[in-house]
Parts: sequence; structure tokens; C-alpha cells
Amino acid sequence: MKVLVVGSGGREHALVWKIAQSPRVEKIYCAPGNGGIGQMAECVPIGAMEFDRLADFAQENQVDLTVVGMDDPLVGGIVDVFEARHLPVFGPRKNAAILEGSKAFSKELMKKYHIPTAGYETFESAEEAQKYLETARFPIVLKADGLALGKGVLICMNKEEAMAGVKTIMLDKQFGSAGNRLVVEEFLTGREVSVLSFCDGKTIRPMTSAQDHKRAKDGDQGLNTGGMGTFSPSPFYTEEVDAFCKKYIYQPTVDAMAAEGRPFQGVIFFGLMLTDQGPKVLEYNARFGDPEAQVVLPRMENDIVDVFEACIQGTLDQVELKFADNACVCVVLASGGYPEHYAKGYEIHGLENFAGKDGYYVFHAGTKAENGKLVTSGGRVLGVTALGKDLREARSNAYEATKWVDFTDKYCRSDIGKAIDEA
Ligand code: AMP
Ligand code: GLY
Repeated sequence: MKVLVVGSGGREHALVWKIAQSPRVEKIYCAPGNGGIGQMAECVPIGAMEFDRLADFAQENQVDLTVVGMDDPLVGGIVDVFEARHLPVFGPRKNAAILEGSKAFSKELMKKYHIPTAGYETFESAEEAQKYLETARFPIVLKADGLALGKGVLICMNKEEAMAGVKTIMLDKQFGSAGNRLVVEEFLTGREVSVLSFCDGKTIRPMTSAQDHKRAKDGDQGLNTGGMGTFSPSPFYTEEVDAFCKKYIYQPTVDAMAAEGRPFQGVIFFGLMLTDQGPKVLEYNARFGDPEAQVVLPRMENDIVDVFEACIQGTLDQVELKFADNACVCVVLASGGYPEHYAKGYEIHGLENFAGKDGYYVFHAGTKAENGKLVTSGGRVLGVTALGKDLREARSNAYEATKWVDFTDKYCRSDIGKAIDEA
């Protein structure tokens, strides 16, 4: 069969790599893809938001399955466009992707269906929000309602910061129309865990757990980024936590979406905080995480194409997900200066060192082919990933492999997975 993947980051590279393992797949396209993806799939120069052109391409090339990796096209309704043309597609429809697209929607859903999350209020005007903050407890969390590249969340230590934050989001519109509404949320503390799960509208099958590192610098200092590295599984995600989440969070979320007339088919990403009062939902995403996919997919033993089809056909109850009893760590190699100012266009050396090395992967995020060479083309450049028998071995393997590649201004955190020493 022929598969089209929509997206261009490390997550999509991991998806293309995993799909390529399926004996059922003979050809993979990726739109628009990147330099590394181009070595495994045929990159198609169509943007992820060009829904009609993508559907035309799928139709003309008899694509049997389209898999959408990114949030923007899902929230924008790409799945509805494909379905209207009877083109098989994996991902939630627009009316379900709102689970990620609007934080006000997701908070209201959790409140209505008693799914554990931080207490909150939603505001339509800066004046009302600031009035509420006059008597609030600090720290407090401000969240722009809509999609903001993972940057629309401000943690405010005191009233002054919170007042300034309301201005940034609602009046200065730093995150554009995502800031038309504001969610003000109780500040939670605890370990963060990401759990990605397949859904067919009724049944939910969680994958193995992972943990991301969102801040740019060691020790969780510096600015928020798209993600600087991940490990899987999380040693803090115990069987007890898993049982709680299945009963009070995962299935209730799928049931709630179905009850609202918004059946969710695709991947729900649960961003969880393990608090003293038990696990709570920090956020939902409507897709695989990036760079969570890079550490979860190498541990998955199923043919992922079978699982995608079960989600589309509503037969996920007949699928049992299997993950290897090992561990995986991904260290992101970024361009120095990311997430603020950084240069692009530097040649990348040493990628050939990964050839033939079992259990080592280099997933490309911001690379492109130029005159027969691969050069940097983004802030996050590569996700150097390694398996190991346990987390410590995987971490040591991944850091060893970061030395195999080089480019000017290469930067990575040195403490990805350090938390496992505290487990
Ligand atoms: P989000 O985009 O909602 O995942 O938020 C980004 C990051 O902000 C999360 O990964 C957390 O580290 C932090 N965060 C979000 N909500 C809260 C909260 N209610 N309390 C404490 N930290 C939070
Ligand atoms: N790694 C966080 C995300 O994909 O949103």
C-alpha cells in the first residue's frame, strides 16, 4: 500500500520510519517532509495547510492511507476535507481536534465530566481577568485559549507578573487570536508525564509513557521550547498511576468526546502532572508528541499501519498494543540560540555513523538537502535517539551518539533523563 504522512519534523520522521517497517507498505510520501525524511520517503512540496492540494495528491497517486502528524492541519479540519472525498485518513476531525485547539473547550469538558485537572476560570476580556487576579493566589498559570506553538502558557509568580501576562496575551496579542480568550489556572506541582494513546472513537489504547524536557537549558532553566529531549518509559508512571489514569482520565475523556457528539479517532496525547492528590490533566493534544514519538515508536512492536486502520474502522478493541521491555532516550541537537535567534544553513557532518547501528536512530527535525549536502534549516535540527536495556543504558547510548554528528553551533542539554536517577 501507499502511505502519505503530513508534516515536516522529527515526529514525522519517526512516523515515516515506523510505517516503513510494515511489510504491507511499498511506498511512503511525506508532505512537505525534510532532509532526513527524504532518504526514506518521497518528499512532496505541498504545505501541511494546503488541504485541497494534499487531497488532490492523495487521489491522483492512489494513496491508501494518509497520516497527519501536526496539530495545525488537524485543528484546521484536514481530516474533514479528506473524508468528504472518501480518502482514508488517520487523525481526529475538526470537531474533535478542538480538544487541543481550545483550552477553554478542554477545561469545560473536564469539569463537566469530572476528569481531574487544575481548577480554572475562563475570561473573554482583559478587564475581567485582571479583576479576578486582584484576589487570586500565586503562583498562577495563564493560558492563551488557542494554538500558540506550545508557547501560550505563562507561569506567574505574583500579581504584577500576572497583570502583565494578561496584557501580553489579551491586549498585545503576542500569540495572535489564540489570546482572544484566556484560561487562568491553579498552579500544580509534581512530575510531568506524557501518555500518547490510540483512539477509535470508543476504545482507547494507551502507549507506553514518556517524559519531555521543555526548557532550553540544563536544570529546566531558560525559555520554553518545542522539546529538548525525551525518555521512555517514565519510572514515575507506576502501575498504580496507570490504573488510576485508565479509570478516571483516559476512558472518561473518550466517552466524554463521544457523548458530546465529537467522537475522537486518532491520537490523544495526555499531558499529565502527578500531584500529591493524584494524576491531573495539564493539557490534551490531538496528535503524537514531538519528541515523544521519537522514543515511543522505537519501542512499539505492533505494525503501526494495522493500528491506524483499526482506529479508522472502529476495531481498536481487537488490538493489543505491545511495547518492548527496554528504554529509549532522545537528545535534541539544536542550533545555538534556539528558541530565540539562531543561524541556519550549516552543513551537517557524520550522519553516516548511524548506518547499520541497531538501536540508534537520528530523526531529522530541521534539516534540508542542498546541493547534495544536508544542512541545518531550523532551531531543532536532529533528535539523536538510542535504545538500551534500561533508562541508564539508553541515556548513555544516546549521549554517546550525539558525538557522532556535528554542525556549527550544535547545542544540546546535558541532563536529558537525569530525573531517572531520582526514581
Ligand atoms: P501546556 O502547553 O498546557 O502543556 O503547558 C506548558 C507547560 O507549562 C507544561 O508542560 C507545564 O510544565 C506548565 N504548566 C501548564 N499548566 C500548568 C499548571 N496548571 N501548573 C503548573 N505548571 C503548568
Ligand atoms: N512535546 C510536547 C508536544 O509535542 O506538544
